[in-house]
Amino acid sequence: MSRQLFVTTALPYANGKFHIGHIMEYIQADIWVRYQRMQGNAVDFCCADDTHGAPIMIAAEKAGQTPQQFVADIAAGRKQYLDGFHISFDNWSSTDSPENHALARQIYRDLRDNADGSLIETRTIEQFFDPEKNMFLPDRYIKGECPKCHAQDQYGDNCEVCGAVYAPTDLIKPFSALSGATPVLKNSEHFFFKLSDPRCVEFLQEWTQGNDESGKPRLQPEVANKVKEWFSVRTNPDGSTSEGLGDWDISRDAPYFGIEIPDAPGKYFYVWLDAPIGYLASLKDLLVNKRGQSYDAYMANPALEQYHFIGKDIVTFHTLFWPATLKFSGRKTPNNVFVHGFLTVNNGEKMSKSRGTGLDPLKYLKLGMNAEWLRYYLAAKLSARNEDIDFNADDFMLRVNSDLIGKYVNIASRAAGFLTKRFDGKLTHQFGVSGSALLHEIREAAPALAQMYETREFGKATREIMALADKVNAYVDQNKPWDLAKDTANNEALHQVCSVLINTFAVLTRYLAPILPSLAAAVEKFVGISMQQWTVAGDVAAIQPYQHLMQRVIPEQLDALFEPKEPPALAESTQSAPKARAKKVTPATPVDPNAPGGEALAPTISIDDFAKIDLRIAKIVNCEAVEGSTKLLRLTLDVGEKDEAGQPKTRNVFSGIASMYQPAQLVGQLTVMVANLAPRKMKFGMSEGMVLAASHGDEAANPGIYILNPWPGATPGMRIH
Ligand code: MSP
Ligand code: ZN
Repeated sequence: MSRQLFVTTALPYANGKFHIGHIMEYIQADIWVRYQRMQGNAVDFCCADDTHGAPIMIAAEKAGQTPQQFVADIAAGRKQYLDGFHISFDNWSSTDSPENHALARQIYRDLRDNADGSLIETRTIEQFFDPEKNMFLPDRYIKGECPKCHAQDQYGDNCEVCGAVYAPTDLIKPFSALSGATPVLKNSEHFFFKLSDPRCVEFLQEWTQGNDESGKPRLQPEVANKVKEWFSVRTNPDGSTSEGLGDWDISRDAPYFGIEIPDAPGKYFYVWLDAPIGYLASLKDLLVNKRGQSYDAYMANPALEQYHFIGKDIVTFHTLFWPATLKFSGRKTPNNVFVHGFLTVNNGEKMSKSRGTGLDPLKYLKLGMNAEWLRYYLAAKLSARNEDIDFNADDFMLRVNSDLIGKYVNIASRAAGFLTKRFDGKLTHQFGVSGSALLHEIREAAPALAQMYETREFGKATREIMALADKVNAYVDQNKPWDLAKDTANNEALHQVCSVLINTFAVLTRYLAPILPSLAAAVEKFVGISMQQWTVAGDVAAIQPYQHLMQRVIPEQLDALFEPKEPPALAESTQSAPKARAKKVTPATPVDPNAPGGEALAPTISIDDFAKIDLRIAKIVNCEAVEGSTKLLRLTLDVGEKDEAGQPKTRNVFSGIASMYQPAQLVGQLTVMVANLAPRKMKFGMSEGMVLAASHGDEAANPGIYILNPWPGATPGMRIH
């Protein structure tokens, strides 16, 4: 039976552009959502801008805008990111929408008027007030001298010098960070959500520590453990501790950019009260305004499942406040919240929530980098656990180029040409014994992989899919279609092998489709069967001519991505690959789309000129990655030379081909090198020659660098004339 799912990601603050941490959260949720849709489940996937609160109000004022204008500008910039990374939200709304105003007020009334006793209580509290700005000051806008170590200019809640935690009223010589004025203490009536109410405590104990509808522990174990602590002790604003859950202050005084509390003029909901209600408001906007459906009927469906993807920093709000708000206002509580860790970049520190660092997602897209590289890379690193993950540039290039492209995409390109040229694009349904067994094994993996997607073990799923791709590649190596193609007597075998390959490729593509939706759409056209369902009966009957499905990552793109300033145009970027060195000396070589290989032929030379270049057959006797370089491989080459003692002598050559080849692929291969090039000292050591490699003049459009490989019979040291 198909399921009905309502899924959200956290609502980002509307005070800045997306950073890569946001995009990671959206990609994680989007993969899960797409997987669910492939299973035939109905999903409504919603998000919105979180617009309210003091920081946004103050930022808008600084920008000379109303808060509404300010957040509208931010909202207008969202689409390019979401489309660019193929995030399939059904709706994007705002917590300042009429739906959210109405819902927040209604939920509050329902809490206040709870028939078994109100969950709302008012209390008078004393707070700092800025007499110049005429407003109560949030803790972070009060500064002063630390009462403990006497450091100057410390925030109202804790000292960054000695780490002391205190209340703002403990600060010595406090001042308003907004106006500089000395704040005065003033009484104000605040509204509290009675989290300490025994009904609340009992419900939250059960919700956070108990099982979900399927009988398994609801929260991730590490999350449940953290939450457990909050039931026993909590830290008060002055640093002391109390027992059990404390009541939650849900009101703020005007001026405040937020939603006015019913029957309490001048009082507003604290932003964290109305922010998660924005989940429901976005859903309501989708159902009512965009689809003309009934929100109430939708929510009344007892089978409806509700999930929130969030980061580890906002667990309290989602495991205590939010379920309690829903429960005691008589609403459906979430089935679960899925907590992820933080993304860091190149072993960087945790990115600042507001600034974000390292990897600018929009720059990534503008450089023409493929969004699905990032989706794949993040998927490969994600698990169901609440743990941090690191984006590492070298690792990124390796996983994409050697796994995704080397193992998976290449299956299609290896088989498609033969099928199109020799068999008019038609496939046979005869797969032979080993082909049938292989295909069977790959199809049989569907339930196990489904379980991995369902439980958000995406890293496990990608490893499993790549292990299947390895098996397909082993089958290719056993059956050698390129050898079969040499003799038409082998036509039937060739047809069979290539048909097996395309069918395995189609199944693997479905397994990867939640991660690579755009690639899957291209494959759907190529093989003519649906990639939108998790399993499909029947084989591929025919293919369309193969078109390149995915480019490799080239190191220059990563260099440009992490370049602090504006990147130089890609084609001009410097690199240490042999080709770029040649380019540097002849910088005039323009990209010419009409010329062969994208660049005009060089001026004519005489045979004597050519004879100056001594090209030799070289055997790659060893090959290693170069630590500290994403581009270079260190090659040890045998060109048949001997030292004075008559012992074989090898050469050390660096080559900028790491994006294309893994060292193990090259060891033992023959290639061609320039043997009389003056040695050149490089950052990583001496380079004693250069191996030849082909690449396109327009590297940005046609990335890839391909080393030469002589026909059998050539041996190390032979000269090329
Ligand atoms: N507005 C609140 C959420 C309200 S939900 C009702 C908020 N916004 S945020 O913009 O600061 O963060 C939005 C989401 O991005 C959160 O889930 C947060 O954990 C996540 N991330 C922020 N930085 C992150 C990383 N560096 N890595 C991964 N996720 C990160 O909190
Ligand atoms: Zn201090």
